[in-house]
Amino acid sequence: MEKFIHFMELFPPLSPWQTILLILILIPTLITLIWGAPWVPTPMNRVLKMLQLAKLKPGQKIYDLGCGDGRLVHLASIHYKAKAIGLEFSPLIYAMAKLIQPYYWLKGSRAQIKFRNFYKVNLNDADVVVCYLLPHSMRKIQKKLELELKKEAQVISYAFPVTAWIPNHRSPRQRQKAFGPIWVYKFPVKPQKKQPL
Ligand SMILES: C[S@@+](CC[C@H](N)C(=O)[O-])C[C@H]1O[C@@H](n2cnc3c(N)ncnc32)[C@H](O)[C@@H]1O
Repeated sequence: MEKFIHFMELFPPLSPWQTILLILILIPTLITLIWGAPWVPTPMNRVLKMLQLAKLKPGQKIYDLGCGDGRLVHLASIHYKAKAIGLEFSPLIYAMAKLIQPYYWLKGSRAQIKFRNFYKVNLNDADVVVCYLLPHSMRKIQKKLELELKKEAQVISYAFPVTAWIPNHRSPRQRQKAFGPIWVYKFPVKPQKKQPL
């Protein structure tokens, strides 16, 4: 205990405002880490492949659940003229995405980056939903997508599948380049057959 007190004395005391700011940053960051996924950017090659698989038409709406620096939504806007929306709930990653945004504006992007917890955003107007999350967050998001997504909407997932659904397409992993697989699901999705016990 004494050691802990000495350790804490190394840090300068925080003013009430600094404490509030720290809490405001820490809470959403913890939510993204515990119930979502940490920020690991999708390799550009896989971003382009996901967009190619999405076959977006101009004006269609695409969401990236946990958009990181916003690379996918910006490229969807620039190359496919899609209404692209990136949802990001980690304050530091969101701030970084906002800092980078003008670079993509100059290239013609109209994508929006929003500070939102994607579990709380209604996705009923989505034509395409992309995600690069972890197995536990894929399980958590599955029911929400089943309830909200319209007919013909697509879910495109990098690295981890929605294990309860049969994919319409699977791009294999490329081991030598360390690229993960991509799964495409089209609504209404077909459920996987339950394994007999
Ligand atoms: C593996 S990264 C993917 C980044 C980005 N989609 C890309 O392709 O480069 C996952 C991202 O999801 C964000 N995230 C996790 N949980 C979230 C939540 N509940 N709401 C919004 N963003 C979340 C993380 O902060 C992180 O930036």
